[in-house]
Amino acid sequence: MAKLFLYWNRTRDGAHIDGLLAIGPDRRRYLKQPHAYVLGIPMADFSTDASPPVIWESSHGVVRARFREIFSDIDPDRWPEIDITDDYHALRKEIFGQCPRKELQLKRGESFLVHRLALHGIAPWGNNAKAGPDGRMICYFRPQFRNLESWLSAP
Ligand SMILES: [Fe+2]
Repeated sequence: MAKLFLYWNRTRDGAHIDGLLAIGPDRRRYLKQPHAYVLGIPMADFSTDASPPVIWESSHGVVRARFREIFSDIDPDRWPEIDITDDYHALRKEIFGQCPRKELQLKRGESFLVHRLALHGIAPWGNNAKAGPDGRMICYFRPQFRNLESWLSAP
């Protein structure tokens, strides 16, 4: 139990924003995949504590505001070259402090849509979690914008 708690505390459910990839041995972050949205579809039956997806509510607004500041005077074609590592880590801390963490309760046949700028992750496997023979399986679709500017300007 203590190990599980330490894992959760250290990683915060692996909280991340899709498309801001960690590159190189120093894992510096860059906007490399400007997703339009993230659509998840549970493909199997599993209990609600079987590593549910987690989202920080309203975090997309915090992220949008910060990145508008960061990229304000930079041509969108250059955004993928900008090292946003420090801002990214600061943003995560800010969001943990002000946005409610919500675990998604899912069933096979449902789907869920995550805003591309929302901080999200996956909770640890619960002590009594259960899944069928295919395990816990969720299929994700993450189409990308052709126009980088849309990553910040689209609704
Ligand atoms: Fe993700």
